[in-house]
Amino acid sequence: MQSFVYSYPTKVYFGQGAARQALEAELSHYGPNVLLAYGGGSVKRTGVYDALVAQLKAAGKTVTDFGGIMSNPTYAKVQEGAKLAREHNIDLILAVGGGSVIDCCKIVAAQAKTDEDVWEMEFTHRRLPAEVIPMGAVVTASGTSAEMNGGAVITNEDKKLKAGMAAAAPRFAALDPAYTLTLPMPQVLSGAFDTLSHAMETYFGHSDGDNASDDVALAVMRNTVVNMRRVLKDKDDLEARSNLMWDSAMAENGILKVGRKTDFQAHQMEHQLGAYTDCNHGQGLAVIHPAYYRHIVKDAPEKFARLGQVVFGLPADARPEAAVDALAAFIAECGLPTKLGQLRSTVTIDKDLLRKVADSCNLIPTNPRPLTHDEVYDILCECL
Ligand code: NZQ
Ligand code: ZN
Repeated sequence: MQSFVYSYPTKVYFGQGAARQALEAELSHYGPNVLLAYGGGSVKRTGVYDALVAQLKAAGKTVTDFGGIMSNPTYAKVQEGAKLAREHNIDLILAVGGGSVIDCCKIVAAQAKTDEDVWEMEFTHRRLPAEVIPMGAVVTASGTSAEMNGGAVITNEDKKLKAGMAAAAPRFAALDPAYTLTLPMPQVLSGAFDTLSHAMETYFGHSDGDNASDDVALAVMRNTVVNMRRVLKDKDDLEARSNLMWDSAMAENGILKVGRKTDFQAHQMEHQLGAYTDCNHGQGLAVIHPAYYRHIVKDAPEKFARLGQVVFGLPADARPEAAVDALAAFIAECGLPTKLGQLRSTVTIDKDLLRKVADSCNLIPTNPRPLTHDEVYDILCECL
């Protein structure tokens, strides 16, 4: 085991009515000015927005709207939110949405407290924000687990980089599985695949084979696959939605990562693809994972074989490559994209674009075998 410090800062309210329960318990801890952040409008259509505004107003809060946060949030949108937060002397940021809204708010929380550019602070000067506005999250789309960690993935359009930034984790998070019932099925499945990816990416990093984190990661993967199959049969299966919501939280709340290194090379490829396109995160991962794993399966044969047995029920003597085949077959069974051309991107994905993606992609040193930029390019081209 590697040495570690584990501390969990987010209070979680899970289950039907979680948002009301969370606000009832939490609002009195913060001042009167609340920044209510949301995406492109789903919260207004579903009635979640109206219910939250009514509760905030009944609690005596002054609400400032920060809407229109796009999927794959941009650094420009972060600056817009930070300006609003400063102008309205915000005491609490309430992020209502999926990973994009929550991530944007995490960096707004930091940027609003400093005149220094937080991107430069983190990536050029290698310092973390010292102060943040407290934030809470009401989750309407699960998969990223953004509500349960202090990381945020932001697209800097000027620099053509989509990168993980560090900020404070939400102080509290409301996870009501019923809120996800209005999500379109492609997003349900891409979010759940993101969860599966997080557990796999953690599992394939450097670890001793018998550590607890690997066993828990395999259980989260198995459970995610089981419940994705349940929602494929019945999209309104609330128990399955609940299980997926907690799988999502478990995969990225840090518990799988203690005592070990992680891989996350597939995420690095997808994030850079996201910097050049506007593709959906989970769908991009579904395309990239099998191609990446075919390149590294011989570098971690025991781990692949174990994944095949535990997650996909393969026999004990199955070849490691069979686990990659089972994963690819499961992706197809879910109707997730299997080729880059199937991603809904407004930018054409061709070899020239993939060269730029590959050359700017972070290379992970703690995966089964570190890749080169040329091999990343080959993997991406195999996804065309
Ligand atoms: O914008 P609105 O209108 O709200 O619609 C959203 C959006 O179009 C819709 N939606 C959300 N809740 C809904 C709903 N539609 C109907 N009913 C509801 N209840 O869903 C669409 C996708 O939302 P988005 O937040 O973009 O998706 P997701 O949760 O997958 O987040 C993706 C972002 O998170 C980052 C990704 O890179 C991407 O930028 N990630 C964040 C991570 C983290 N902080 O830990 C880790 C991940 O690996 C990931 O990189
Ligand atoms: Zn992810």
